[in-house]
Amino acid sequence: MSTTILLTGGAGYIGSHTFIALREAGFEPVILDNFANSHPVVLERLERISGRPVLLERGDVLDTAWVADVLRRHRPAGVVHFAGDKAVGESVAKPLKYFHNNIGGAVSLLRAMTTVFEDGSAPALPTLVFSSSATVYGDPASVPILESFPLSHTSPYGHSKLVIEEMLASLRRASPAWRVGVLRYFNPAGAHPSGLMGEDPADIPNNLMPFVTQVAVGQRPHVNVFGNDYATPDGTGVRDYIHVQDLAAGHVAALQALLSKGESFTVNLGTGRGVSVLEVIRAVERACGKTIPHVFAPRRAGDVAQCYADASLAKRLLGWEAKCSLDEMCADAWRWQSGNPNGYRG
Ligand SMILES: NC(=O)c1ccc[n+]([C@@H]2O[C@H](COP(=O)([O-])OP(=O)(O)OC[C@H]3O[C@@H](n4cnc5c(N)ncnc54)[C@H](O)[C@@H]3O)[C@@H](O)[C@H]2O)c1
Repeated sequence: MSTTILLTGGAGYIGSHTFIALREAGFEPVILDNFANSHPVVLERLERISGRPVLLERGDVLDTAWVADVLRRHRPAGVVHFAGDKAVGESVAKPLKYFHNNIGGAVSLLRAMTTVFEDGSAPALPTLVFSSSATVYGDPASVPILESFPLSHTSPYGHSKLVIEEMLASLRRASPAWRVGVLRYFNPAGAHPSGLMGEDPADIPNNLMPFVTQVAVGQRPHVNVFGNDYATPDGTGVRDYIHVQDLAAGHVAALQALLSKGESFTVNLGTGRGVSVLEVIRAVERACGKTIPHVFAPRRAGDVAQCYADASLAKRLLGWEAKCSLDEMCADAWRWQSGNPNGYRG
């Protein structure tokens, strides 16, 4: 069997860490990316860490004929679909961008995979791991969140993830050959322990961890803490922060399960632990040895009080569980931020 795995969006934050984890597990990942939200310098870092050249297909997942050509040339055993836009706030302002790139991108990829499977030009059974998100649970009625909880959305971004999950379910009903692993990520954070790769937001970070580390490095004056009157132990929002290295390992486990057992699944990838905004700030303070100023601000529309996973299904089905602590996550995020204050832009 081919060990090649195609990673759409593989130059991005989660894709690049997954690339290394796949190589370490004996797979040969190929990156497909248009660098809309990533920087080609990451390729040099991937080569430094893994000690071998990186295979890149530069282009747009929306170009179905080209994606089919990529599949024919590389004949991957599986595809991980990371490519897409991910900023919740931007999706509220520009919903069509999200419907076009996220839903349109998934349709394009699925059509390309179907074409090459059906015409026999890349005959591996269509095997896909999809980057979904805990946002598909909307405002959950309780925590921890099980995969069986009702699904909804609070933004066009979340809507796009939900539509793609539904499309994948329809496809599996229509063509049982499809093997699909849907991974609902909670809050990815942290960086590669080498300090060479990490999260590199092009603009104001949407996620808490890069915002806090940018304050720590002196690029921003303070952290805005949105809401301190939630029904949580310290009043600030509680989330399930998962080390990107653990998340990367989750993709390896998902691919191994799909390729060996052939059964589709939908699982949460989280730690099962809820951590508040103030706890994250204190953990980054421990990592960098500085005080991080923060200011309380009103709650943001659409934010929920608590969101953390029940992570037991992934353990049962994939034999995977998160291993890294919050302190490791913050130490790795700080090593990346302090060594690369401007990210990959030098
Ligand atoms: N980071 C998070 O907090 C988080 C949480 C839940 C789910 N996810 C999902 O995981 C996936 C990866 O997230 P990430 O944090 O690595 O994001 P990222 O923006 O760092 O990576 C996405 C990559 O996709 C590429 N891309 C975007 N549109 C493309 C297109 N049309 N054709 C080719 N390449 C394209 C970008 O250039 C980028 O390299 C996304 O689908 C995201 O929605 C992320």
